[in-house]
Amino acid sequence: MTGWPPSTLEQQALGPILNPNELGATPDAVVALARSSRYRPQFVAAFESEPGIFDVAAALASYVRTIVAGDAPFDRFIAGDASAIGESARRGFALFRTHARCTTCHAGPLLSDERFHNTGVAWRTGTVTDEGRYRVTQAPADRGAFKTPTLREIARTAPYMHDGSIPSLAEVIDFYDSGGVPNPGLDREIRPLQLSKTEKQDLLAFLRSLTGTIREGM
Ligand code: HEC
Repeated sequence: MTGWPPSTLEQQALGPILNPNELGATPDAVVALARSSRYRPQFVAAFESEPGIFDVAAALASYVRTIVAGDAPFDRFIAGDASAIGESARRGFALFRTHARCTTCHAGPLLSDERFHNTGVAWRTGTVTDEGRYRVTQAPADRGAFKTPTLREIARTAPYMHDGSIPSLAEVIDFYDSGGVPNPGLDREIRPLQLSKTEKQDLLAFLRSLTGTIREGM
């Protein structure tokens, strides 16, 4: 049911829920949630029976199948349509790749290197609030390291960071501008940027150009 690597979206859906290194739930707890008053009526309406663990997997997989991102203005720009994004977004993209150093982590088609980095989000209170990757590697620098998320559709997915602690994209840019949150394992690519007001707006315009068409209901 949860073999690795998963060969279906249904298997993938249950993987993180049951994996002790991720959510670490038990199948019983998952089924109890599906049978709670909050979800049971929808499950019964959809599956016409008392929900079990495979119905949870099917429901999650069906939802995930509707998330297909693509054809953002930025994709058309990369494909050669220079006018697909405005001047500000073009300046923002240049900054993103150069002075602002964002592509050291947010690179490739998904704008993620799929690696773990400590940006200091988990260190806001002076001590680490979530050990993140450290729980798996036990490497001190991984205290508060998280996997670089994709930036596709980012303008639609507030709030930001693993804990939802940053409400807006403008504030995410301020967070990077100030050099993240200092801590013993802060990634060396995270450092104060001293961006001007216009540069911040340009980065924001670029991030907004990553919003495309989501096809729904397959
Ligand atoms: C050292 C690697 C690294 C660099 C450099 C970096 N990021 Fe990130 N970024 C991350 C990681 C890791 C996270 C997730 C942090 C967390 O959730 O605690 C993240 C999160 C984000 C998020 C929130 C994503 C979400 O879904 O919540 C945005 C937006 C973002 N970064 C934009 C940028 C921009 C713009 C720059 C350049 C100014 C940049 N990043 C530079 C690694 C990096």
